[in-house]
Amino acid sequence: MDAQALENEAKSAISGAKTLNELDEARVLYLGRKSELKQALREVRDPETGRVLNTLREGLELAIEQREAALRGADLEQRLAEERVDVTLPAKATQRGHLHLITQVRREVEDVFLGLGYTIVDGDEVEDTWHLFDALNMPPGHVTRSPLHTLFLNGDIVLRTETSASQIRVMEARDPPVFIVSLGRTYRRDTVDATHSPLFHQVEGLAVDKDITLADLKGTLLHLAKALFGEDRRVRFMTDFFPFTEPSLGAAVSCFLCDGAGCSVCKHTGWIEMGGSGLVDPNVLRNVGYDPEEVSGFAFGLGLERIAMLRHGVPDIRMFLENDLRFLRQF
Ligand code: DAH
Repeated sequence: MDAQALENEAKSAISGAKTLNELDEARVLYLGRKSELKQALREVRDPETGRVLNTLREGLELAIEQREAALRGADLEQRLAEERVDVTLPAKATQRGHLHLITQVRREVEDVFLGLGYTIVDGDEVEDTWHLFDALNMPPGHVTRSPLHTLFLNGDIVLRTETSASQIRVMEARDPPVFIVSLGRTYRRDTVDATHSPLFHQVEGLAVDKDITLADLKGTLLHLAKALFGEDRRVRFMTDFFPFTEPSLGAAVSCFLCDGAGCSVCKHTGWIEMGGSGLVDPNVLRNVGYDPEEVSGFAFGLGLERIAMLRHGVPDIRMFLENDLRFLRQF
């Protein structure tokens, strides 16, 4: 076939291609390795024929390029016309995570005390026995000093059994007045059951200033109880004992379910125990270099799991750590 005839045939095939596939077939047929043109190019012996054939090749390549651009444009037009987005279709629900219930309760408690002008301080989960026991006025033979109760890491280094050590850390570092809460994990060598876990969370509160009294403690815990369990709550105290407070008091809140009438949540007493509290023992104040003649203080410690369990009817403390999504999603 002569060059002119080949060009005519190839160009009509190219311009006649209706799809990218058809165009590709034409490319293979007229410019592929086995095409007549490539065959002829390989056999060229004189410059004039070479020039003619190469011009033909370039012309065909350009024609294919232009046809391809045109087809792609048409293809896009067609897709845009066909693939319309139906904005009225319901959206695919995205799964969102949320805070763990204990974290939610923790933040709630923090908010209550930030509102009262308290500072939130971090304590260390790894403590030494001075800050956890001695400075808190615990006598040498106290049961929680036993390795049966406390997880010892190394010598006098332990995992804290209560957040109370934060009291000592803060008072060592600052002069009164002090109004702080410290929240976080605590560890005990407890056997696991529905109400005991070797890892749980506490909130520790401490207020030290001139003329702090039990009335301040009661008002503060009442405020917290109302925020957590509802406006109608009342608070009462019972005598208790902690080495770091004198007097020591167990704080209870009127039952949020039966309001004191008696039900299964309050074990038919009308009252729910919130935690321990009291006026800071003068020995503790002296241990951190405060003068008990000058300042006084109150302290309290509550379990966050306990608050969450009571308020949300969680029957087993282990559920907080198992990370079963069916449980976690409920809050
Ligand atoms: N640390 C105590 C506990 O873990 C709770 C507690 C009681 C903290 C009385 C206090 C307090 O600050 O004054 O059981």
